[in-house]
Amino acid sequence: MPISVADLRREYARARLDEANVSPDPITEFARWFDEAVKAEVQEPNAMTLATASPDGTPSARIVLLKGFDQRGFVFFTDHRSQKGTELGRNPRAALVFYWPELERQVRITGTTTTVEREESDAYFRSRPRGSRISAWVSHQSQVIGSRQQLENRVPELERKYPGDDVPLPPYWGGFRVAPGTVEFWQGRTSRLHDRIRYARDGEHWRIERLSP
Ligand SMILES: Cc1cc2nc3c(=O)[nH]c(=O)nc-3n(C[C@H](O)[C@H](O)[C@H](O)COP(=O)(O)O)c2cc1C
Repeated sequence: MPISVADLRREYARARLDEANVSPDPITEFARWFDEAVKAEVQEPNAMTLATASPDGTPSARIVLLKGFDQRGFVFFTDHRSQKGTELGRNPRAALVFYWPELERQVRITGTTTTVEREESDAYFRSRPRGSRISAWVSHQSQVIGSRQQLENRVPELERKYPGDDVPLPPYWGGFRVAPGTVEFWQGRTSRLHDRIRYARDGEHWRIERLSP
């Protein structure tokens, strides 16, 4: 029997989200949810969809890994010459989405992006395995290439150039930080009457609103 996509549905009943109990600060609330996702052994809890847009408004989205967050925002690392890097260079606005199915939770973030300081990108790059660092030199992310062979052929060349552990940070590689303007927490509830609590930046403060599901 063929699977009927339209008939795939699941009831959400694990938890509730109450504006009376959330932190006044979305980063604190995010830290709590992230911690719970880690404890629930969500697979790759730091995987998030990153949406960017070209200056004419054409959107594009892909998964990247969250590598840090604090009051300044949410950090990921990438090749700045990639499609996302080029788009953020010209239109520094982004959206992030986390989906943690085990917890029936989604977090949506919108904000403006800045480039992470060189020293911070360098420190992160140096923490990566040597193979990943070599690959960052081998790959010009998002460029069309003739074959996989072409890519693999460049590996020994770069390995000769950077023997040992000292594989430096490529000039085009580094982090972006998304400074949030809105952060929305979504908790699945029964019969699709889900809870949605959105924080919106209001000067120095955060306005907390409940949204209809
Ligand atoms: C689980 C997962 C994690 C990923 N993490 C990253 C990442 O942290 N940085 C990155 O540049 N690409 C990452 N990628 C690859 C991106 O999804 C994407 O293919 C690549 O960055 C090129 O995107 P662009 O052409 O839109 O710039 C990841 C993909 C997956 C599936």
